[in-house]
Amino acid sequence: MCGIVGYVGPKDCNEVLVDALSKLEYRGYDSAGIAVFSDNEIEIVKTKGKLDDLRNKLKEVGKPSGNIGIGHTRWATHGEPSDINSHPHSGSRVTIVHNGIIENYIELKEFLTAQGRTFLSETDTEVVAQLLDYRYNGDPVKTIDECMADLKGSFALGIMFKDFPDRIFAVRRESPLIVGVAKGESFIASDVPAILKYTRDYYLLEHNEIATLTVDGVSFVNEYLQPIEKELKTADWDEEAAEKGGYPHFMIKEINEQPTAIRTTIMPRIKDGLPYLEENGITPEKLKDFKNITIVACGTAMHAGMVGKYVIEDLSRVPVSVDIASEFRYRNPIISEGDLVIIISQSGETADSLAAMRLAKQKGATTLAIVNAKGSSIAREADMLIYTLAGPEISVASTKAYITQLSVMYLFAFELALAKGTVGKAEIERLISALMKMPEAVQYVIDNCEEKCKYIATKLVAAESLLYIGRGLDYALSMEGSLKLKEVSYIHSESYAAGELKHGTISLIDDGMPVIAVATQTDIIPKTISNIVEVKSRGAKVILVCTDACARELKEGIADYVVEIPHSDEMLMPITAVVPLQLLAYYTSVNRGIDPDKPKNLAKSVTVE
Ligand code: M6R
Repeated sequence: MCGIVGYVGPKDCNEVLVDALSKLEYRGYDSAGIAVFSDNEIEIVKTKGKLDDLRNKLKEVGKPSGNIGIGHTRWATHGEPSDINSHPHSGSRVTIVHNGIIENYIELKEFLTAQGRTFLSETDTEVVAQLLDYRYNGDPVKTIDECMADLKGSFALGIMFKDFPDRIFAVRRESPLIVGVAKGESFIASDVPAILKYTRDYYLLEHNEIATLTVDGVSFVNEYLQPIEKELKTADWDEEAAEKGGYPHFMIKEINEQPTAIRTTIMPRIKDGLPYLEENGITPEKLKDFKNITIVACGTAMHAGMVGKYVIEDLSRVPVSVDIASEFRYRNPIISEGDLVIIISQSGETADSLAAMRLAKQKGATTLAIVNAKGSSIAREADMLIYTLAGPEISVASTKAYITQLSVMYLFAFELALAKGTVGKAEIERLISALMKMPEAVQYVIDNCEEKCKYIATKLVAAESLLYIGRGLDYALSMEGSLKLKEVSYIHSESYAAGELKHGTISLIDDGMPVIAVATQTDIIPKTISNIVEVKSRGAKVILVCTDACARELKEGIADYVVEIPHSDEMLMPITAVVPLQLLAYYTSVNRGIDPDKPKNLAKSVTVE
């Protein structure tokens, strides 16, 4: 999604804005631009394309010289990616950058057109710029506040008023925006990594609050224009955590960070060999009365929820339904008081997940958020919260966030089973002890399977379509494997419950079609093997991800390639088995010449519906 940055201070604004925007590239974008106060005029340079295109254009047209400005990376929503549609946009006295969607922009555009205003672009953003200009009354903060009443939707804005060349303004509703501060300088940004090079101190702008940034400092007012004091936060991520650290891509760096991410996530939540979630407001007393659980999320986070369903139901016998957030919110879901709704989200800002959580609250459910981004909207609004402590995940393809979401799902399922009395303390102690061994197990898989996955990926490069199959937990995991591959390699793939293949999908199998089978659950391995034999006899090239125990018993020729992973507790196998699937996706992407960190059409934080 779009990225906003802004700077006020002594430094060369071009450098700071473009550098900060480069830290938001992971969000996905198709054009970029900056606006800088230069000799009291606002100079805009913008272009379709990537930041390198913007850098080239800045060289070509000459950098505006100045120390105060705003910048933007655009992910097209209204109007195609083009120079004209790129941000910043202006009314004559006002220039803005914008993230999010103005739902009533057509109505506003008609109104402004009737007032004689004309528009250059197709964007909803230009409508806001013109509206601000139309309403401008000499007082920027009052003007912004008045316009907020006219705007519907979720958005964040960085704003410059020509008459006030010593400051920039920021406001947001729903879409995230932070205000960073350091000595003699201040920043706005859509996300913390953009400013880490300059400062770790920041304020979280709340809905409808307006920030004014000058060299003398930052001030805030609420929607009633009353001055407010805000709590200064300090990011616990340093700049290095948001850099590639010698790896060619963030995706492979983040795959390698998984052992640490699991350890960091689980260790503070284990006490005396048992799950300990009390610091997260989760106690056995609170848990024992929940009779229904719904897990709501999108994409990879939803796949973590699928694993959660199997584990929670197995251990505590509480029925769990898993829903895609965009479906949940529009289908009048059956949720009532006394239900628990779990929202899983890396960014904590996914528009559909946030809306689903609000709906669940409206219906009287208790909400538990499992979120990675600190202070994000979902984290702040949930009744209970467990942070996944994966650190910043920059690659669009989620890897370490997924593995930590799984880790939290296990901790929660163990705690719930204890609260419900469905599993004895000794068994939970055994499971916790197995969970504590997972960081080493994941490290072992990375160390021992990477080369093989790299090799197998060379066989997938030319594939047009793939199938992922598995049963039970392996099926839940196949969904994630398939999504990972398709998003970073652009090869069509589907995941299928292995037993369901013969009800239609097996007709897709052709000579040489790759089928990736996951078989880690001992009791159903023979069933999955039968399905592998079925696809193999129809010409499929089978890549089998299975436990070492399973591999030992495989008959010659069942699979074309086997990736063996160490056997751990069966229930925990998705944590290790996902690693080869991530590596296969990563190397297939790289072999196809794609940047896995920034797949086309995708955004890291999906803050629009
Ligand atoms: O930030 P969230 O976890 O809420 O994001 C949900 C999905 O958009 C995300 O998992 C997406 O599917 C990833 N690109 C998958 O790698």
